[in-house]
Amino acid sequence: MDPLILKVFLSLHVAFAALFVGGNVFMDFLLSPRLDLIPPGQAARLGEKLGNDFAIFNWICLIGIMVTGWLVLWRKGMHHSVFDIDFIQTSYGVALVIKEIIWTTLIFTGAAMTFYLRPRVIVKLPYDASREEIESKREETMNYSKYMRWMARYNGVAAVVALLAAVFMANGGIW
Ligand code: HEM
Repeated sequence: MDPLILKVFLSLHVAFAALFVGGNVFMDFLLSPRLDLIPPGQAARLGEKLGNDFAIFNWICLIGIMVTGWLVLWRKGMHHSVFDIDFIQTSYGVALVIKEIIWTTLIFTGAAMTFYLRPRVIVKLPYDASREEIESKREETMNYSKYMRWMARYNGVAAVVALLAAVFMANGGIW
């Protein structure tokens, strides 16, 4: 089989992985902590717009990682072995399973952040909302954005762990 095709798939896979890791580490460890330097109204507006773009960016990376990962497995003739117990128990197989489990958790946090938490953080109250309503919504929003921060932190750390597992995988496996 033409090794160039494998190199192209692997390069795309590494590129999607690098973009995902870099984007989430930058967003969570560098940008978000500094958002309180700008006035709350502007921070909320930036958070809303940037949040949408970042969600799309994350989904493109996660789907790209999975598709190119499988294409690499296919080019290496390993796609049949992925669910084979003997393969999974090998040093290489364990590294792959660690990455697949992490990838699956990143899909869950991505879905929770995009479709459950974000719509509840960006709340538009009616003009005639009562003080009680505003207070209870504010409490809720604070909780939802706290869970968003926890998941964003998880995404950053888990993606770095997947990257390390990948290098072990490419160099023979975990042990
Ligand atoms: C569905 C999940 C995934 C699959 C099926 C998959 C599959 C693969 C395969 C088959 C390789 C080639 C390893 C070799 O050289 O034999 C690879 C390499 C790699 N994977 Fe994944 N992967 C997945 C998820 C991830 C994730 C979540 C990351 C990081 C965020 C990642 C980062 C990498 C990197 C950086 C390499 C290159 C390692 C190197 O050559 O040093 N992968 N992946």
